[in-house]
Amino acid sequence: MNEQETTADGNNSSAAVAEDPGADSNSAVSVFRRTIKTYVLRAGRMTDSEKRSYEELHQVWCIPFEHKTLNFTEIFGNTNPVTFEIGFGMGHATAAIARANPEMNYIGSEVHVPGVGRLLSEIKKNQLKNLFIIEYDALEILKSMIPDGSIEAFHIFFPDPWPKKKHHKRRLMQRPHTDLLMQKLTPGGYIYFATDWQEYAEEALSELEATDGLKNRYEGFAPHQEWRPRTKFEQKGIDAGRDIFELYFEKEE
Ligand SMILES: C[S@@+](CC[C@H](N)C(=O)[O-])C[C@H]1O[C@@H](n2cnc3c(N)ncnc32)[C@H](O)[C@@H]1O
Repeated sequence: MNEQETTADGNNSSAAVAEDPGADSNSAVSVFRRTIKTYVLRAGRMTDSEKRSYEELHQVWCIPFEHKTLNFTEIFGNTNPVTFEIGFGMGHATAAIARANPEMNYIGSEVHVPGVGRLLSEIKKNQLKNLFIIEYDALEILKSMIPDGSIEAFHIFFPDPWPKKKHHKRRLMQRPHTDLLMQKLTPGGYIYFATDWQEYAEEALSELEATDGLKNRYEGFAPHQEWRPRTKFEQKGIDAGRDIFELYFEKEE
């Protein structure tokens, strides 16, 4: 089966429509050069209010992807620590965390446009000043826009588990991606990851343990971090009877 016919959570779906927004699908050469993406672009409708928010607020709260290093002090107007979230989905947890921590700055990355529209609405509704969005592949953002040693925390909540063995190469929480996260963290900064997919959790644990410069704050899995609001995909996992696994690794000082 073509990979594009299988969603990241293992269900067959016509919702998975494209692989790489930057790839030139007409070029035979690009097939060989294409990097392995951790996502497929899902079709999804925006509600009218999400569309309005997207059009109105995109210019203000979305930072365009560029091959240029960001200056966080200029963006946020302060020197507060920066948390970077990979794949915020519909962004409910993202907005709630930013609202609860005005002394912290947040950058959320997502490629799913309706989710971006949704989070933009939340930013407006809650008048958030400490949260910006970059609508692009997080790994490319990190490589091109984020200075080394500048991120206080990575939040990665219920990333696509890619359950089929032939798709494991698309998983986010594996080296060299974890090496890249480590490189971007401040000393003492952390990576907090949660999943409802046990086998992925176990693989992520060994990948993080094998990443030079990181240490586990706990023995094995982390206890539930009470401050994290439940996410949409977490709820789906719970409804399906799955347990939740959390990992919390810190960069050595
Ligand atoms: C399974 S969903 C989880 C969403 C949300 N965190 C939650 O818990 O409800 C994973 C999300 O990660 C996004 N994603 C996957 N790889 C990404 C990447 N490299 N950069 C940005 N977003 C990514 C997908 O588009 C998808 O919306």
